[in-house]
Amino acid sequence: MSEKPVLVSGIKPTGDLHIGNYFGAMRQLVELSKTGTYKPFIFVADYHALNTMQDAEEMKRRTQELVMGYLAAGLDPKDIVLFKQSDVPAHTELCWIFDTITTMPYLKRAHAYKDAEAKNNEISVGTFNYPMLMAADILLYDAAVVPVGQDQKQHIEYARDTAEKFNRTYKTELFKLPEPYIMPEVAVVPGTDGQKMSKSYGNVIPLFANRDELTKCVMSIVTDSSGERPQNVYAIHKLVRSEDELGKIYDEHRGSYKILKEMLLEDLDRYLTPFRAKYEELKKDPSVIEAILTEGKREALAVSAAKMQEVRRAIGVA
Ligand code: ADP
Ligand code: TRP
Repeated sequence: MSEKPVLVSGIKPTGDLHIGNYFGAMRQLVELSKTGTYKPFIFVADYHALNTMQDAEEMKRRTQELVMGYLAAGLDPKDIVLFKQSDVPAHTELCWIFDTITTMPYLKRAHAYKDAEAKNNEISVGTFNYPMLMAADILLYDAAVVPVGQDQKQHIEYARDTAEKFNRTYKTELFKLPEPYIMPEVAVVPGTDGQKMSKSYGNVIPLFANRDELTKCVMSIVTDSSGERPQNVYAIHKLVRSEDELGKIYDEHRGSYKILKEMLLEDLDRYLTPFRAKYEELKKDPSVIEAILTEGKREALAVSAAKMQEVRRAIGVA
């Protein structure tokens, strides 16, 4: 077993990756994995995604695309254990054990549940139970840190509480309390219309867009007509070029929106070209992804099986 502190992170395969995902989350995860400080377990949270995506073909395709996307963005399988949640039955098994020590009023306090209820949605048991599956994801591997966005912080608290509850109930110290690692986000990456870039708003710049798609996205960025700096163009531009340089460029071309957009297009294209190339390369041979996931599954199965053996002993079924 590795002596390094364990890092666990799950990513749902629910949308096409865009540059908001990259600058807001992926880049930090890639960098964190490269430092060598942690032993990272990173998985495709396909069973979590099942709450909102119930189409077999889509699940397959998006899982494949997500893995290719992360590899293309720099995640190196040599540095991490990369696997599918559904390949490791211990996640759902441990989730059940946690269900039996968790109360409904406690789960009803979850933000995600309350939001769904406020919208009067029909809420699945899986959605209600989401925090318990996530607690299992994290606690199975003795995670020390869990890199997440601010919106996921409460879920880490659920995992901590659940670890404590189990330890108290069974008079053990089996589960370690994980800490959230709130990723230093590039605040909020704005979309082509200036509000938060999000797949739900139709304002995204896809991470693997080809030149034509990229041109369309950049030219559609909303600008006002004040004659000053086009804020929405600048806000995206500063992700791929230093503000020192941009200051000069934007002063020199004050009011020339078309020129500024063309420069943004060039800079974005240059930045994204290596990602796109790697993605295209990966697309040629799906067996590479399969092999990586199979290898990840092997290691995740071994680590989780050892932990489950201790859990089974603690609860008296083994
Ligand atoms: P979307 O808003 O497109 O549905 P997700 O909710 O799937 O994106 O986001 C996945 C990850 O990407 C999250 O960790 C989130 O914090 C990050 N992220 C998504 N959009 C942005 C954005 N516009 N700015 C910064 N981070 C973002
Ligand atoms: N709930 C997380 C999200 O929506 C995904 C996730 C599932 C996760 N299991 C996890 C994240 C375990 C970190 C650790 O983004």
